Amino acid sequence: MSSTTDSSVVLEKPAEDKPSEDVVLRLEDLVVEFPAGAGQIVHAVSGINLEVRRGETLGLVGESGCGKSTTGRAIMQLPKPTSGSVHFDGRDLASLSSEEVRKLRPKLQMIFQDPISSLNPRRRIPDIVGDPLVVWGRGAEKAKVVPEVLRAVGLDPEQVADRRPHQFSGGQCQRVSIARALVLEPEVLICDEPVSALDVSVQAQILNLLEDMKARYGLTLVFIAHDLGVVRNISDRVAVMYLGRICELGPTEALFDAPVHPYTRLLVSSIPSMEGAQRGEVGTGEMPSPVSPPSGCRFRTRCPLATDRCASEVPEMREVAPGRFTACHHPILDTPVEAPLPAAVAGDHSTNGTAPAPADS
Ligand SMILES: Nc1ncnc2c1ncn2[C@@H]1O[C@H](COP(=O)(O)OP(=O)(O)O)[C@@H](O)[C@H]1O
Ligand code: SF4
Ligand SMILES: [Mg+2]
Repeated sequence: MSSTTDSSVVLEKPAEDKPSEDVVLRLEDLVVEFPAGAGQIVHAVSGINLEVRRGETLGLVGESGCGKSTTGRAIMQLPKPTSGSVHFDGRDLASLSSEEVRKLRPKLQMIFQDPISSLNPRRRIPDIVGDPLVVWGRGAEKAKVVPEVLRAVGLDPEQVADRRPHQFSGGQCQRVSIARALVLEPEVLICDEPVSALDVSVQAQILNLLEDMKARYGLTLVFIAHDLGVVRNISDRVAVMYLGRICELGPTEALFDAPVHPYTRLLVSSIPSMEGAQRGEVGTGEMPSPVSPPSGCRFRTRCPLATDRCASEVPEMREVAPGRFTACHHPILDTPVEAPLPAAVAGDHSTNGTAPAPADS
């Protein structure tokens, strides 16, 4: 029996007027484009639909340049997406006035890859952490809240009282960034490669800290990284991105044990070598430019299962097993990651020159 199938259910978009209670963030047809000069356009994010459930950690993984950070910033409306919408707690951020968005902003916080350069070098640590309270008119709470949150992230308020960022290691600066993000009691924390610049031993400490903070403050995390091992470690569900689109979404263990999208599969099967996985790369050439992405399925130029259909038809996101979604015309079902890729679909022809010959039947 072939392990590929097209008989899946089309994923329906949630009805606009029925926000699901456990969904804190919903991205609908999110598109972000940048001008690239000479009339060209960078198609950084091209129609993402995604729901983030309250209290979960959703990992967003994919090769460098696939649009992860742009997605994270679009959620924050920094800048506003080119089209599509971001619903936070059931409210479409694009439909709100700038004052209403401003009021919601404390609930959505973001931390970044390079903690040292994202902290003001001239400010002392307690001021850096307390500044958001001042900005939001809650300066009177600084003396009580800042020491609490510093202790929560594992820093001694007295020891850091007169220190500035350059006096700390990268891991300690990331603790300061996390404290600053938490001081306004956000609902959602978007973590953009928060451990990628840190030593492996420090990475584990920061991941543990994020887990602790999530439990303590009831946070929802969107965890962006190119390192599959890190994403696997921390995420409840994982969304895999390729060239501006989501190609697979599912519960972490199921997705890593038996990926259904050829790209996820190539990514995950490169984990034993770790090097490729840590760079979030697969060994089938380079990602095409987002200025001129391939027609149909954007992964087709590197996909060993590509067929003619893949060049002419954009694969829609479909639910192929309970809770498992993929955008692929020929998903790989019921096949553990250790097994070889199934042959291309009978009757179709390769479009990329690397696919195996179609079966005879
Ligand atoms: N402000 C910008 N102007 C032009 N191109 C951009 C801008 N920001 C990101 N890009 C491009 O969009 C694509 C996605 O970038 P990014 O979201 O940073 O990817 P990732 O975080 O996955 O590495 C890349 O090709 C990048 O060069
Ligand atoms: S090229 Fe075809 S088989 Fe490969 S991932 Fe895309 S849709 Fe699936
Ligand atoms: Mg990035």
